[in-house]
Amino acid sequence: MDKIVINGGKRLRGDVKISGSKNAALPILIATLLTDGKCVIDNVPELEDINTVVALLKHLGKKIKKEKNKITITANGKLQTDAPYKLVSKMRASVLVAGPLLARFKKAEIPLPGGCAIGIRPINIHLDGLAKLGAKYFVSGGNVKIFAKKLNGTKIILDFPSVGATENLLMTATIIKGKTVIKNAATEPEITDLANFLVKIGADIKGIGTKTLEINGVKKLKGWPDGYEIIPDRIETGTFIVASSLTLGNINISNAIFEHNESLIEKVKLAGAKILMLNGILRVVGPKKIKPVDAETQVYPGFATDLQPLWMALMSIASGKSVITETIFENRLQAVAEFLKMGADIKIKGNTAIVKGVKNLTGAKVVASDLRAAAALILAGLSAKGKTEITGLEYLDRGYENIVRKLEKLGADIKRVIDN
Ligand code: UD1
Repeated sequence: MDKIVINGGKRLRGDVKISGSKNAALPILIATLLTDGKCVIDNVPELEDINTVVALLKHLGKKIKKEKNKITITANGKLQTDAPYKLVSKMRASVLVAGPLLARFKKAEIPLPGGCAIGIRPINIHLDGLAKLGAKYFVSGGNVKIFAKKLNGTKIILDFPSVGATENLLMTATIIKGKTVIKNAATEPEITDLANFLVKIGADIKGIGTKTLEINGVKKLKGWPDGYEIIPDRIETGTFIVASSLTLGNINISNAIFEHNESLIEKVKLAGAKILMLNGILRVVGPKKIKPVDAETQVYPGFATDLQPLWMALMSIASGKSVITETIFENRLQAVAEFLKMGADIKIKGNTAIVKGVKNLTGAKVVASDLRAAAALILAGLSAKGKTEITGLEYLDRGYENIVRKLEKLGADIKRVIDN
């Protein structure tokens, strides 16, 4: 079992460049199922989740060339309409193939999805939306079979602005007959990136970036061989913002979009960090004393659920008590047990964590239970006294490109020990 070993207490200093967004790259790669045209996608991070989606697209019949951060997708004969359990169970975002396959071939079959172990994560909003467009579905043997005689655009009001459901329905609507209006749509920047890509390949979408998306179905989408550049990863940006704040660091973050992290930036400023945006570089100077600041997760542009465990790492060494409330995923407070091993003082009540800051955390052997928990434990380890060993790295590999190397370059005493 690989592990990350950190000797804590080093201030982070220097420059770091943010990679392309995982959560934008996944749906954009999947959106290429909507066309037989050649698509070139740039700034794709090299991650396990990307490997999974590449394997999935290959299974479905696409030809893929991967050169570092550039992926070229071309048609390779007829596409399959069934997604294999082996791949879907690894990554929840695989469910996004359902919409494009249904739109093109009037049928799709997907196993109920997997992904990070952070709650039940059903797909009812995806399926209800597809049903409104004319699809029928049933669950059998752990698979969802979706089919339609005819699909027609209509008005869909989402029960909740689910990111994945918005993406699935948006993709479906691009090539079905008529006008689809998605109300209460999620407005995360990754959805805007997907919509911008879809427009490049010929889709007719209005209201991009707002809670109402209006899509006029077109007959056919084309390719985009010129190279579509994925936006920077705002969660990785947030991770480095918190890392600098927590180690009393001074780092310059390039390739970050300030507006995508505004709610976090407001909070780190309240906690005492200094944030400057100069010539496109985001500088984060950590506070001498971290002030306690409450946080409640919300859909975008609110405080991101993916940043919640990282915020907890920061608050665990703040100079007082803070309250952190998780409203998006019922099970995303599971990093707490590991923080406790490191000397944190945190109590859970329902979906709320009451965090009493301690003077310092102490190194311990901890296990990551999901992607963002893994990052949060790394940050806790960076600030802790002594040695921290983190296992459960398969989650980390799904979502952070070169995080160990990037932190090392910033002066952290961190290494990955490979278990052969
Ligand atoms: C995406 C992100 C994930 C992020 C999350 C919320 C990707 C690949 N993943 O996940 O990193 O944490 O958005 O910002 O982009 N729900 C239902 N029924 C559904 C769909 C969702 O009840 O059909 C619930 C989920 O269980 C969860 C909440 O809605 O409690 C949010 O889920 P959703 O916005 O769909 O997140 P994902 O797209 O899975």
